[in-house]
Amino acid sequence: MSKKVLVISSSMRRNSNSDILADAFIEGARQAGNAVEKISLRGKTIGFCLGCLACQKTKRCVIKDDAQEIVKKMKAADVIAFATPIYYYEMSGQLKTMLDRANPLFPSDYCFRKVYLLAAAAEDEETTITNTANGIKGWVDCFDKATFAGYLFCGGVTEAGDIKGNPKLNEAEMLGASV
Ligand SMILES: Cc1cc2nc3c(=O)[nH]c(=O)nc-3n(C[C@H](O)[C@H](O)[C@H](O)COP(=O)(O)O)c2cc1C
Repeated sequence: MSKKVLVISSSMRRNSNSDILADAFIEGARQAGNAVEKISLRGKTIGFCLGCLACQKTKRCVIKDDAQEIVKKMKAADVIAFATPIYYYEMSGQLKTMLDRANPLFPSDYCFRKVYLLAAAAEDEETTITNTANGIKGWVDCFDKATFAGYLFCGGVTEAGDIKGNPKLNEAEMLGASV
Protein backbone atom coordinates (compact mmCIF):
# COMPACT_ATOMS: atom_id res chain seq x y z
CA MET A 1 0.00 0.00 0.00
CA SER A 2 1.25 3.47 -0.87
CA LYS A 3 2.45 5.45 2.13
CA LYS A 4 2.93 9.14 2.75
CA VAL A 5 6.64 9.53 3.35
CA LEU A 6 8.14 12.76 4.65
CA VAL A 7 11.89 13.26 4.47
CA ILE A 8 13.34 16.10 6.55
CA SER A 9 16.85 16.99 5.48
CA SER A 10 18.76 19.14 7.94
CA SER A 11 22.18 20.06 6.53
CA MET A 12 22.67 23.74 5.80
CA ARG A 13 25.24 23.27 3.06
CA ARG A 14 24.73 22.87 -0.65
CA ASN A 15 25.55 19.49 -2.17
CA SER A 16 25.34 18.04 1.32
CA ASN A 17 26.24 14.39 1.84
CA SER A 18 23.28 13.62 4.10
CA ASP A 19 21.00 15.40 1.64
CA ILE A 20 22.29 13.21 -1.21
CA LEU A 21 21.69 10.18 1.04
CA ALA A 22 18.15 11.48 1.57
CA ASP A 23 17.64 11.77 -2.20
CA ALA A 24 18.67 8.13 -2.68
CA PHE A 25 16.21 7.06 0.04
CA ILE A 26 13.53 9.14 -1.69
CA GLU A 27 14.28 7.54 -5.06
CA GLY A 28 13.76 4.07 -3.56
CA ALA A 29 10.60 5.09 -1.72
CA ARG A 30 9.11 6.68 -4.87
CA GLN A 31 9.97 3.72 -7.07
CA ALA A 32 8.18 1.48 -4.58
CA GLY A 33 5.04 3.54 -5.21
CA ASN A 34 4.97 5.79 -2.18
CA ALA A 35 4.06 9.48 -2.10
CA VAL A 36 7.19 11.22 -0.93
CA GLU A 37 7.74 14.81 0.13
CA LYS A 38 11.11 16.27 1.02
CA ILE A 39 11.65 19.30 3.21
CA SER A 40 15.04 20.89 3.67
CA LEU A 41 15.62 22.96 6.78
CA ARG A 42 18.08 25.07 4.79
CA GLY A 43 16.69 28.58 4.43
CA LYS A 44 13.90 27.94 6.93
CA THR A 45 13.29 30.09 9.99
CA ILE A 46 12.92 27.79 12.98
CA GLY A 47 13.25 29.33 16.44
CA PHE A 48 14.14 27.49 19.62
CA CYS A 49 11.36 25.91 21.68
CA LEU A 50 10.43 28.27 24.51
CA GLY A 51 9.42 25.42 26.81
CA CYS A 52 6.10 27.12 27.64
CA LEU A 53 4.18 23.86 27.09
CA ALA A 54 1.19 25.79 25.73
CA CYS A 55 1.21 23.29 22.85
CA GLN A 56 0.26 20.46 25.18
CA LYS A 57 -3.14 22.10 25.61
CA THR A 58 -3.61 23.84 22.28
CA LYS A 59 -1.67 21.42 20.02
CA ARG A 60 -0.14 24.51 18.42
CA CYS A 61 3.09 26.36 18.95
CA VAL A 62 3.04 29.98 20.08
CA ILE A 63 5.97 30.77 17.75
CA LYS A 64 4.79 31.66 14.25
CA ASP A 65 7.58 30.53 11.95
CA ASP A 66 8.37 27.81 9.41
CA ALA A 67 8.24 25.02 12.00
CA GLN A 68 4.43 25.15 12.08
CA GLU A 69 4.00 24.00 8.49
CA ILE A 70 6.64 21.30 8.93
CA VAL A 71 4.93 19.99 12.07
CA LYS A 72 1.64 19.81 10.15
CA LYS A 73 3.33 17.66 7.51
CA MET A 74 4.99 15.48 10.17
CA LYS A 75 1.58 14.85 11.73
CA ALA A 76 0.06 13.70 8.44
CA ALA A 77 2.95 11.46 7.28
CA ASP A 78 2.89 7.66 7.69
CA VAL A 79 6.67 7.50 7.62
CA ILE A 80 9.26 10.13 8.57
CA ALA A 81 12.95 10.00 7.66
CA PHE A 82 15.40 12.46 9.21
CA ALA A 83 18.65 13.18 7.38
CA THR A 84 21.45 14.82 9.31
CA PRO A 85 25.16 15.54 9.25
CA ILE A 86 26.82 14.26 12.42
CA TYR A 87 28.06 17.16 14.52
CA TYR A 88 30.10 16.27 17.59
CA TYR A 89 28.68 12.74 17.57
CA GLU A 90 25.13 14.02 17.68
CA MET A 91 22.41 15.03 15.26
CA SER A 92 22.76 18.57 13.93
CA GLY A 93 21.49 21.36 16.18
CA GLN A 94 19.04 22.42 13.51
CA LEU A 95 17.40 18.96 13.49
CA LYS A 96 17.26 18.86 17.29
CA THR A 97 15.64 22.31 17.28
CA MET A 98 13.05 21.02 14.78
CA LEU A 99 12.29 17.97 16.94
CA ASP A 100 11.80 20.18 20.01
CA ARG A 101 9.47 22.41 18.01
CA ALA A 102 7.48 19.33 17.02
CA ASN A 103 6.28 19.11 20.64
CA PRO A 104 2.65 19.94 19.59
CA LEU A 105 2.62 16.44 18.08
CA PHE A 106 2.96 14.84 21.52
CA PRO A 107 -0.72 15.27 22.51
CA SER A 108 -1.91 14.98 18.86
CA ASP A 109 -3.41 12.19 16.82
CA TYR A 110 -0.32 11.84 14.63
CA CYS A 111 -0.19 9.34 11.75
CA PHE A 112 3.48 8.37 11.61
CA ARG A 113 4.31 4.81 12.56
CA LYS A 114 7.86 4.39 11.27
CA VAL A 115 10.83 6.70 11.68
CA TYR A 116 14.17 6.39 9.87
CA LEU A 117 17.52 8.10 10.29
CA LEU A 118 20.02 8.88 7.53
CA ALA A 119 23.37 10.33 8.61
CA ALA A 120 26.72 11.30 7.17
CA ALA A 121 30.02 11.94 8.94
CA ALA A 122 33.73 12.32 8.34
CA GLU A 123 34.71 9.34 10.47
CA ASP A 124 34.06 5.87 9.21
CA GLU A 125 33.47 3.80 12.37
CA GLU A 126 29.91 2.53 12.67
CA THR A 127 29.89 3.74 16.31
CA THR A 128 30.07 7.35 15.03
CA ILE A 129 26.29 7.27 14.67
CA THR A 130 25.51 5.75 18.10
CA ASN A 131 24.59 8.95 19.96
CA THR A 132 22.67 10.32 16.99
CA ALA A 133 20.66 7.10 16.67
CA ASN A 134 19.99 7.16 20.42
CA GLY A 135 18.81 10.77 20.13
CA ILE A 136 16.31 9.89 17.41
CA LYS A 137 15.27 6.74 19.30
CA GLY A 138 14.66 8.88 22.39
CA TRP A 139 12.36 11.12 20.38
CA VAL A 140 10.53 8.16 18.83
CA ASP A 141 10.13 6.51 22.27
CA CYS A 142 7.94 9.46 23.26
CA PHE A 143 5.46 8.53 20.52
CA ASP A 144 3.88 5.22 21.52
CA LYS A 145 2.40 4.43 18.12
CA ALA A 146 5.70 4.91 16.28
CA THR A 147 8.84 2.78 16.05
CA PHE A 148 12.41 3.54 15.10
CA ALA A 149 12.50 1.49 11.90
CA GLY A 150 16.16 1.78 11.00
CA TYR A 151 19.09 3.94 10.10
CA LEU A 152 21.69 4.27 7.42
CA PHE A 153 25.09 5.69 8.22
CA CYS A 154 27.64 6.81 5.66
CA GLY A 155 31.02 7.59 7.16
CA GLY A 156 34.22 8.69 5.50
CA VAL A 157 32.63 11.73 3.83
CA THR A 158 33.94 15.14 4.79
CA GLU A 159 33.66 17.65 1.95
CA ALA A 160 30.31 18.43 0.34
CA GLY A 161 29.52 15.88 -2.36
CA ASP A 162 32.10 13.31 -1.17
CA ILE A 163 29.31 10.76 -0.96
CA LYS A 164 28.76 10.67 -4.73
CA GLY A 165 29.33 7.15 -6.08
CA ASN A 166 29.37 5.68 -2.57
CA PRO A 167 27.73 2.21 -2.35
CA LYS A 168 25.79 3.46 0.69
CA LEU A 169 23.57 5.33 -1.77
CA ASN A 170 22.33 1.97 -3.11
CA GLU A 171 21.65 0.86 0.45
CA ALA A 172 19.72 4.09 1.07
CA GLU A 173 17.64 3.42 -2.04
CA MET A 174 16.86 -0.09 -0.81
CA LEU A 175 15.95 1.21 2.63
CA GLY A 176 13.65 3.76 0.99
CA ALA A 177 12.04 1.03 -1.08
CA SER A 178 11.32 -0.98 2.08
CA VAL A 179 9.30 1.63 3.96
C1 LIG B 1 30.29 21.47 13.57
C2 LIG B 1 30.71 20.17 12.95
C3 LIG B 1 30.91 19.07 13.76
C4 LIG B 1 31.28 17.85 13.21
N1 LIG B 1 31.43 16.77 14.02
C5 LIG B 1 31.77 15.56 13.50
C6 LIG B 1 31.90 14.41 14.34
O1 LIG B 1 31.70 14.45 15.56
N2 LIG B 1 32.25 13.23 13.76
C7 LIG B 1 32.48 13.13 12.42
O2 LIG B 1 32.82 12.04 11.96
N3 LIG B 1 32.33 14.20 11.59
C8 LIG B 1 31.98 15.41 12.10
N4 LIG B 1 31.82 16.50 11.27
C9 LIG B 1 31.96 16.32 9.81
C10 LIG B 1 30.60 16.15 9.10
O3 LIG B 1 29.80 15.18 9.73
C11 LIG B 1 30.81 15.74 7.65
O4 LIG B 1 31.48 16.79 6.96
C12 LIG B 1 29.53 15.38 6.92
O5 LIG B 1 29.83 14.94 5.62
C13 LIG B 1 28.58 16.57 6.84
O6 LIG B 1 27.38 16.19 6.23
P1 LIG B 1 26.59 17.17 5.23
O7 LIG B 1 27.42 17.24 3.96
O8 LIG B 1 25.30 16.47 5.01
O9 LIG B 1 26.45 18.48 5.89
C14 LIG B 1 31.46 17.73 11.80
C15 LIG B 1 31.28 18.87 10.99
C16 LIG B 1 30.90 20.06 11.55
C17 LIG B 1 30.67 21.27 10.66
